[in-house]
Amino acid sequence: MSNRTFTMIKPDAFKNGHAGTIIDRIIKEGFSIKAMKMLKLSPEKAGEFYAVHKERPFYGELVEFMSSGPIVAAILEKENAVEDFRKLIGATNPANAEEGTIRKLYATSVGENAVHGSDSDENAKIEGDFMFSGLEQF
Ligand code: RTP
Ligand code: MG
Repeated sequence: MSNRTFTMIKPDAFKNGHAGTIIDRIIKEGFSIKAMKMLKLSPEKAGEFYAVHKERPFYGELVEFMSSGPIVAAILEKENAVEDFRKLIGATNPANAEEGTIRKLYATSVGENAVHGSDSDENAKIEGDFMFSGLEQF
């Protein structure tokens, strides 16, 4: 069971002014912040981050969206972090997300869905290390 996950507040949620509310919600749900920063991904970096989706029809759109504006990236700690965080953010498509989940509340569409959450312990580690140096992780 992992105790860390990785998240990004995506450009839509940041642009719509939801970053502070989302961070507050994450803390209230019992996650503690082990790394955090605001940055804008280049298309190259966004493409590398989502390389697993390279062959999918939405890849180009995804890369363009993820590099379209500032994001907030963070490493979060909590018992059962990966699974609990996926539960907190809700389904990929906000239309299918449960009431009260972050995507239900703040996502715009299936493509512009407010937040990222790692899908496994292994990817949480890879993604955290992709975005943060050792000196930036606590
Ligand atoms: P994420 O990786 O960002 O946490 O999202 P996820 O696991 O819920 O969904 P995933 O299948 O990994 O897809 C990654 C992101 O690609 C965009 N997407 N667009 N237009 C579409 O049909 C579509 N499908 C996926 C979303 O931004 C999704 O979060
Ligand atoms: Mg995913």
